[in-house]
Amino acid sequence: MTRTTYYTASTLDGFLADEQDSLDWLLTQDIDEHGAMNYDDFYAGIGAVAMGATTYEWLRAHLASSGESWPYDVPAWVFTHRDLPAVGELIRFTQAPVEEVHAAMAEAAGGRDLWVVGGGDLAAQFAEQGLLDEVVVSIAPVTLGAGRPLFPRRFDLRLLGHARNRAFLCARYEVVGPR
Ligand SMILES: NC(=O)c1ccc[n+]([C@@H]2O[C@H](COP(=O)([O-])OP(=O)(O)OC[C@H]3O[C@@H](n4cnc5c(N)ncnc54)[C@H](OP(=O)(O)O)[C@@H]3O)[C@@H](O)[C@H]2O)c1
Repeated sequence: MTRTTYYTASTLDGFLADEQDSLDWLLTQDIDEHGAMNYDDFYAGIGAVAMGATTYEWLRAHLASSGESWPYDVPAWVFTHRDLPAVGELIRFTQAPVEEVHAAMAEAAGGRDLWVVGGGDLAAQFAEQGLLDEVVVSIAPVTLGAGRPLFPRRFDLRLLGHARNRAFLCARYEVVGPR
């Protein structure tokens, strides 16, 4: 059965990025790329991804400055109300209801799992429709005090597993439902 996961990294005080959308706090952390809950193992099971426009714009700027290419070889849905430039062939821009997009993602994924890349509000929109199975979060040993929130709604989650990956505390939660 296709599962939908919000897989991300966060600060200890629950932020995905600072107020200027910087990930400097994250990119300087020590991580074992083959260690617990690592990206490659997670991504190997993914058949489609979804993200919000701010995440997409961060990625687009990062790719432009680094010279790297679009990192996903599976269909990607970008939620936006704007007319943004596409940086890869597998990108679809949408403002359709999340349940419609989720159904299209599941079909495109052909039995593989779905990844809600972020941000937190978009992940919560999927959860509110009962379309988010898990939250997998790698928590960095840093606090920011303010920024883009991990999950800005009231939900009950159930801890399924935890592990350490060098600097990170990694935790896997089942989404139980709205609180
Ligand atoms: N720590 C990590 O691993 C990690 C992971 C992911 C992201 N990030 C970072 O965290 C930040 C996330 O920012 P965020 O949570 O503010 O934003 P976000 O979810 O990336 O983007 C928010 C935008 O998405 C669009 N959107 C959201 N829901 C929509 C819907 N239902 N229909 C149409 N458009 C919709 C809207 O864009 P429009 O203005 O176009 O309407 C909205 O302003 C970014 O800086 C990102 O780079 C970090």
